[in-house]
Amino acid sequence: MPSLRALLSLALAATTVSAHYNFDRLIINGVTTGEYEFMRRTTNSNSPLPNIQNKDMVCNVGGLDAANRAATKTAVVNAGDTIGFNVRDIMGHPGPVNVYMSKAPAGVTAQNYLGDGDWFKVYALGVKQFRPSKGVIWGSMPDTAPQGIPNVQFTLPTALPAGEYLVRMEHIAIHGASEPGGAQFYIGCGQLTVRSSGTGVPSPTVKFPGAYKGNEPGLVFPVYWPPMLNYTMPGPATWPNKCDDHTPNVVGQKSDGDCTPILPCDGC
Ligand SMILES: *[C@@H]1O[C@H](CO)[C@@H](O)[C@H](O)[C@H]1NC(C)=O
Repeated sequence: MPSLRALLSLALAATTVSAHYNFDRLIINGVTTGEYEFMRRTTNSNSPLPNIQNKDMVCNVGGLDAANRAATKTAVVNAGDTIGFNVRDIMGHPGPVNVYMSKAPAGVTAQNYLGDGDWFKVYALGVKQFRPSKGVIWGSMPDTAPQGIPNVQFTLPTALPAGEYLVRMEHIAIHGASEPGGAQFYIGCGQLTVRSSGTGVPSPTVKFPGAYKGNEPGLVFPVYWPPMLNYTMPGPATWPNKCDDHTPNVVGQKSDGDCTPILPCDGC
């Protein structure tokens, strides 16, 4: 009988077949918008970032280029709206999702904003369930979508102040995270004009690059063995609720909210 370790390795290897991906379409209240209509196009095909400590970490390779910014429209949305990101191809790797936002300084449009200000995490989707006998089930790769969920949705906090924003979708693929530098970052930025009467002050804030060192427990850990029984989400706590989600909110399904707990494992 093959060892559990071998089975886990096989299971993880199987998830790495379907390679790379992009986030090409913004989703607003469940409606998918045009290809790169409100998401900035990238120039590295669909590859992960080569270096998480340079400017590409802001909006992916090409995401700050003038031509790509000029070709991207800015979506007008309201605080409390559901915002999402369509996955181009298949998000076929295990790992956490993080969504960050950054408000452009006064007088700067989202289109002209280079994302060099403060960013806060507004949504995070981590582990759905730890299954000691089968390995980890990620929220982005649940039993209902074992190849990876086709989109990620979250709710814009009502306390979010009005303004011009970049919203940055990030999926961190951890299949190679046994070695430092092995975690792969897939990201994309959307441009938003947020209408709101909210007066919240988003915190904590981070910069890109800089938010990740690359050696955090959630970015470097033994992927294959022993079976993972805990996971530390990399990056800051989410604003305003300091909570991570553990079950995805996919287009066409009723959302169970942005803060559902890890599913217990009773002999699962
Ligand atoms: C799991 O917990 C151990 C012990 O607290 C810690 O050393 C390790 O970094 C954690 N692993 C992750 C991936 O968070």
